[in-house]
Amino acid sequence: MIGRVLIIAGSDSGGGAGIQADIKTVTALGGYAMTAVTAVTIQNTQGVRGVHGVPREVVAGQIVAVLEDIGADVIKTGMLATTGIIETIGATLRKYGPSIPRVVDPVMVAKGGHALLAADATAALVAQLVRGAAIITPNLPEAEVLTGRSIKTIAEMEAAVPALRVLGAQAVLLKGGHLEGPRLVDLLITTNDVVRFEDSRIETKATHGTGCTLASAIAAGLADKMPLADAVARARAYVREAILTAPGLGKGHGPLNHGHTVGPFVPRK
Ligand SMILES: Nc1ncnc2c1ncn2[C@@H]1O[C@H](COP(=O)(O)OP(=O)(O)OP(=O)(O)O)[C@@H](O)[C@H]1O
Ligand SMILES: [Mg+2]
Repeated sequence: MIGRVLIIAGSDSGGGAGIQADIKTVTALGGYAMTAVTAVTIQNTQGVRGVHGVPREVVAGQIVAVLEDIGADVIKTGMLATTGIIETIGATLRKYGPSIPRVVDPVMVAKGGHALLAADATAALVAQLVRGAAIITPNLPEAEVLTGRSIKTIAEMEAAVPALRVLGAQAVLLKGGHLEGPRLVDLLITTNDVVRFEDSRIETKATHGTGCTLASAIAAGLADKMPLADAVARARAYVREAILTAPGLGKGHGPLNHGHTVGPFVPRK
């Protein structure tokens, strides 16, 4: 059966991040994407102009409607906005999908600097969704908030491993996109192991939604029953190709090419 991914996240009107990036990614990797929208952002490649939260009962209603009928192999969370929405999602998932693996991207701040999670919501995020997740995917600033440590270098990333394990997810992908310099290191941290992924930084403005895209690509792999390290490796390769073939749109942080796996359509005879 096709891998089913329920995405719980915010909408990006610019199409490069959020729900839009998530749907494109899951589809491009052969999965089936469903959504529970938590917030509607007014956004383009240059920044976030506004955020309109979706009422908690509407967020819960979308999750319940999808899980009661279609079901999901993996749940991916992105922008969750407020403590209230996080608590509602936690309670809804405990009732309707307690055993569905979760890929939790702990989104806090947009690439342009706009806050996407209330400052008081971190504890709720950890208690409700991070604990027990199959994997969480913090970038360096998010990992700093989650652990209370400074994480700006590869050495500090390695030193933060125990503090990240304590959060209670089964695995952590600590993303190094915010590192200084030409090398990019992501660490996949599991209970007994740390796998280091290393690449050269691509010099480009097309990095809008890299984090959402990576987490959704991991979710698509897990929905297809790929082992975690394989799902992460494929997701990183998918993101890298999407950056390298980016369409060059917008005046700011441009979108990726999510469709690089999609070939020409040949109508059925
Ligand atoms: N310029 C780049 N070249 C190559 N890979 C990159 C580049 N920027 C980010 N990546 C990769 O993209 C993935 C996302 O990492 P990043 O740290 O940028 O996430 P993020 O900050 O959550 O992104 P977002 O701002 O979209 O939420 C990581 O695997 C990272 O190594
Ligand atoms: Mg991110």
